[in-house]
Amino acid sequence: MPYAHITGWGMSVPEPVLTNDDLAKIVDTNDEWIRERTGIRERRIARENEFPSTLGTRAAFKALSVANLKPTELDLIICSTSTPEHLFPATACLIQDQLGATKAGAFDLLAACTGFIFAMNMAAQSIRSGAIKSALVIGTETLSRFVNWEDRNTCILFGDGAGAFVLQASERPGGILATVMHSDGSGGSLLTLPAGGSRYPATEATLRENQHYIYMDGKEVFRFATKAMAQSTEEVLKLAGLTKDDVKIIIPHQANSRIIEAAARGLKLPMDKFFVNVDRYGNTSTASIPIATVEAVEKGRVQSGDKVVFVGFGAGLTWGALVAEWTGPLPSPRKINVGRYRLWGRVRSLLHRFERFLEGIIWGRRA
Ligand code: ACO
Repeated sequence: MPYAHITGWGMSVPEPVLTNDDLAKIVDTNDEWIRERTGIRERRIARENEFPSTLGTRAAFKALSVANLKPTELDLIICSTSTPEHLFPATACLIQDQLGATKAGAFDLLAACTGFIFAMNMAAQSIRSGAIKSALVIGTETLSRFVNWEDRNTCILFGDGAGAFVLQASERPGGILATVMHSDGSGGSLLTLPAGGSRYPATEATLRENQHYIYMDGKEVFRFATKAMAQSTEEVLKLAGLTKDDVKIIIPHQANSRIIEAAARGLKLPMDKFFVNVDRYGNTSTASIPIATVEAVEKGRVQSGDKVVFVGFGAGLTWGALVAEWTGPLPSPRKINVGRYRLWGRVRSLLHRFERFLEGIIWGRRA
């Protein structure tokens, strides 16, 4: 049975920075309160022409470049997002088109901030079963589009960004070792974006009542999160037959530094075992774990052979953890210039649209 290894990683965040002082000009808040209660100093906000697919595609190209893998070699693309560009088509398909990943099946997965862990598990299981050889898992969000900028309870928390991993099959033992996934829909109303779906389609009333923005019961989510993080970390380690001592680093969902500190206390582990970058990006939901991982690797805190735990929680409610033995790129005799595929992706997409246009004329569908 093949193993599923993490062989590539990449991230992309928008350039514009929104600091706590900037926020204090919009709502009744201040830098000190936000830093003390959340650990956040600033977050990135997507420009008008940046979308989950734009950020996700950039992160994906970087991940493919590290993995030294052509987009055309991908078998599967899973895009985890709570801020899809449309209800359909899936954001994963938009990314597949921009990458020119002609062989890959692509779909979205929605499990809020835990989505990246769930998506990694789906991709790893497909590889482990022998059904596919490679997968791209993307976490991408533009939460700033759904934040009520008049609600100080939520607007201080969220930011935009994307991260991506490439997973590949190898006979070499290691890679994804175990995953646990949990959900409890009874807590769905604690963190929700009520309207815009089929239950409450957009109407004047839903707009007037601010139903298209994120609603959150912060205190309840906080209490749930601290328990969920510690419990699922212990659970996944047990499943993998590992102890806390075997783990080099824990990369948690970056929602609030106080939640991470509470999880560390619950696990009786020092904070330096956790990677934290919530101060610079805020909560980027499903993108936070891959973004934090890329920075942890860049800082030399994750190296080949290390056991790494990823743990998250979010709306749903959902929570889960994944433990992996870090691999890095698989050995390959060839060096791929992934950058060349940016142009190829665009040209291929235009040609296909043109082909459909011509077919429409020939078959009279445009008449
Ligand atoms: N600036 C200043 N004061 C504020 C602000 C603000 N931005 N927000 C709230 N306050 C005030 C409140 O009005 C309250 O005042 P009061 O005592 O006069 O009523 C006081 O500060 C304390 O408010 P609390 O809500 O009790 O603050 P708390 O310490 O719980 O922190 C927070 C709030 C940061 C939202 C916290 O509850 C939290 O982080 N919860 C978890 C949120 C989270 O992780 N969500 C993401 C989940 S992942 C996903 O799926 C997207």
